[in-house]
Amino acid sequence: MIAATPPSASVALYKNQPHSGAELKDSGAAARPRLKPLMIGNVVVDPPVLQAPMAGYTNYAFRQVVREFGGAGLLATEMVAARSAMWLETVRGEHPDRLWGVREEPRPLAVQMWDNDPENLAQVGKRLAIDFRVSVVDLNFGCPVRQVSEKAHSGSWLLRDPKRVGEIVARVVEACGNVPVTAKIRLGCSMECATGVEVAQCIEEAGAACLTVHGRVASQFFKGHADWDSISKIKKSVSRMPVVGNGDIDSVDSAVRRLRESGVDGIMIAREALSRPWIFSQIAAVLGGEPLPPDPSLDEQREVVLHHYDLVCQRFGVDRGTLLMRKFACTYAQGIPGAREFRSKVSGVRTHKDFIDAIRRFFPSKHLDSDGE
Ligand SMILES: Cc1cc2nc3c(=O)[nH]c(=O)nc-3n(C[C@H](O)[C@H](O)[C@H](O)COP(=O)(O)O)c2cc1C
Repeated sequence: MIAATPPSASVALYKNQPHSGAELKDSGAAARPRLKPLMIGNVVVDPPVLQAPMAGYTNYAFRQVVREFGGAGLLATEMVAARSAMWLETVRGEHPDRLWGVREEPRPLAVQMWDNDPENLAQVGKRLAIDFRVSVVDLNFGCPVRQVSEKAHSGSWLLRDPKRVGEIVARVVEACGNVPVTAKIRLGCSMECATGVEVAQCIEEAGAACLTVHGRVASQFFKGHADWDSISKIKKSVSRMPVVGNGDIDSVDSAVRRLRESGVDGIMIAREALSRPWIFSQIAAVLGGEPLPPDPSLDEQREVVLHHYDLVCQRFGVDRGTLLMRKFACTYAQGIPGAREFRSKVSGVRTHKDFIDAIRRFFPSKHLDSDGE
């Protein structure tokens, strides 16, 4: 048996706790009017704050943790390769790990897929829309990773050909019927090929229900800063289609500021949610005019990690679950004093007993001295 907090307990604990001393300032938003929800086709995204797709991370277990804290208007899976999903269909194999939980979990839920072939994407999109009954089918045109971009001429590679992007979107929109189709892009392939505006216009023309823009070009990967001026320009360049801005939102303050100042219809958060999956609930509270809820205490955060571990082991078994959970444990500790020592202990564990032991003994607690991280 895996020792972990039952699903709702960590959240209940969190909600009832006094301020744990985390460095979050009240954004002074209490008096501000509530924002409009974002409409993606007929899907209401309220608040207009979205959990980003992250390959290798935003699996069912992670989404479940985000969902339990609440506050994210729309959750997204990891990206699915349309080609491998088709192969699984033909051999009637088990659905890939990346579709773990998708059938059963609450909505709204977006599933993201990638490919460069409109027919592959249309076929898998239709299956997701009709059989899996997902809320939103999302298309990836932003991935800069070599296997997807250079090798498979998909993801961000397609940004050099706005017309082709439009053709793909139009075909998937046609295949998905009433289920809204969205796209996620970067500002372009490189600084010299910053096609974001043209691509956005082709995507709108093709009938997409929403566009997310990560404010970097693909050649930057994650270097430099997200360029929110360019995100605003793309928003202004389209008329009907809502635009969600994404990049470097790392606090409640920056989330509220981007929403209010950039002109976008919504915001999306990726990396920060890996260490603080409760950030959506904090943003939702502040946008709703409530005081800023505190971060969970470190003891509560440790219970969240154990609960997440429990969910992962239920799917993958204890051996694979333990290996998979090591990277999540490291991201949870990010930014907390004592994280360095914890990471060095947890990243080598191989057994359930050692994982629990590392969490119990080394997950940062108030009693540890700061190591300056
Ligand atoms: C580990 C990791 C995996 C990612 N996987 C995907 C993905 O599958 N699909 C996608 O559209 N973007 C993916 N992204 C990009 C994020 O969705 C997001 O656009 C980017 O991290 C910028 O947002 P942030 O500054 O809030 O992290 C990934 C990012 C990271 C860090």
